[in-house]
Amino acid sequence: MKRVFSGVQPTGNLHIGNYLGALKQFVELQDESECIYCVVDMHSITVPQDPKELKKHTLDIAALYVAVGIDPKRSIIFAQSEVAGHAELNWVLTCSSYTGELSRMTQYKQKSRGEESAPAGLFMYPVLMAADILLYDTDIVPVGDDQKQHIELTRDLAIRVNNKYGETFVVPEGRFLKSGARIMSLDEPTAKMSKSAESEMSRISLLDEPSKIKKAIMRATTDSEGGVRFDVENKPGISNLLTIYSSFSGKDIAEIEKDYEGRGYGDFKKDLVTITVDALAPIKKRFEEVRNSPELVAILKDGAERANAIAVPVMERVKERFGLGI
Ligand code: TYM
Repeated sequence: MKRVFSGVQPTGNLHIGNYLGALKQFVELQDESECIYCVVDMHSITVPQDPKELKKHTLDIAALYVAVGIDPKRSIIFAQSEVAGHAELNWVLTCSSYTGELSRMTQYKQKSRGEESAPAGLFMYPVLMAADILLYDTDIVPVGDDQKQHIELTRDLAIRVNNKYGETFVVPEGRFLKSGARIMSLDEPTAKMSKSAESEMSRISLLDEPSKIKKAIMRATTDSEGGVRFDVENKPGISNLLTIYSSFSGKDIAEIEKDYEGRGYGDFKKDLVTITVDALAPIKKRFEEVRNSPELVAILKDGAERANAIAVPVMERVKERFGLGI
């Protein structure tokens, strides 16, 4: 059985990009693999966080994991900071990384904007992510497109250590969906949908009210050509909506195009509102139940124990290879 690992940062509510690019895969993979899903709270403190809010968000994401269909009995759900191996392996991998390769990371360049006061944690972010993955002898990492460069670095580090110290790490592979790996902003469809964008109308959060979902979709940027047709280059807005429609409904894009032949954007958008509201309603309902149940903390405690049981022997192997300890 293949082992799967992935993580989500506890920063605010998840949006449909997170869901369609990553969490949907998390759920599907449970049937064929041993899955480990982490709330990466240590990644979140690479930028300043309010401590109370961070704790709250960690529980929110854990509850969302369960709400979207991750089964805590079959899969492991836990918070990163509860397993010491992440920080330990992070240091070992830091010593096998080059400052050059880290300074070339797009996300670092975007977030640090070349400023002297950029947090060093932002610079080290991809190494901690590599530690998350390699700590569990992971085979497959389901993520959205924006994590491609980080997965490549993880593979480079694993291969580098294996070549220098002998077989130490499993070299993992990223898993990216053909459709949904990059959901774009609704009001600016050439930019990625993101948690941090200022405009609320740019995204749909998994816990949004139907009225907000309706507003965001009906206002979504399209074009003046008309015609529900997939053409990312010339019609990025409608193409993004088609991707969302297809991912939620399970219908092929070609089939959807056919259904809307000769009809306007209004009809298409109205149907997309219904499909999105219907897809998110059970998630929202389940979230409220799980988030308010004492079971949630028990799930995370049990998950941390099970994760630790996998991580400890891997860390022992790493220490042995590097000659650490007595
Ligand atoms: P994060 O928390 O930013 O996002 C969580 C997941 O959602 C995907 N995603 C998207 N997919 C499609 N369209 C979008 N607009 C979109 N926005 C986000 C992300 O690709 C991600 O899969 N660095 C990671 C967290 C992490 C991690 C790991 C992931 C830390 N350690 C180890 C995998 C393995 C991140 O910031 O995700």
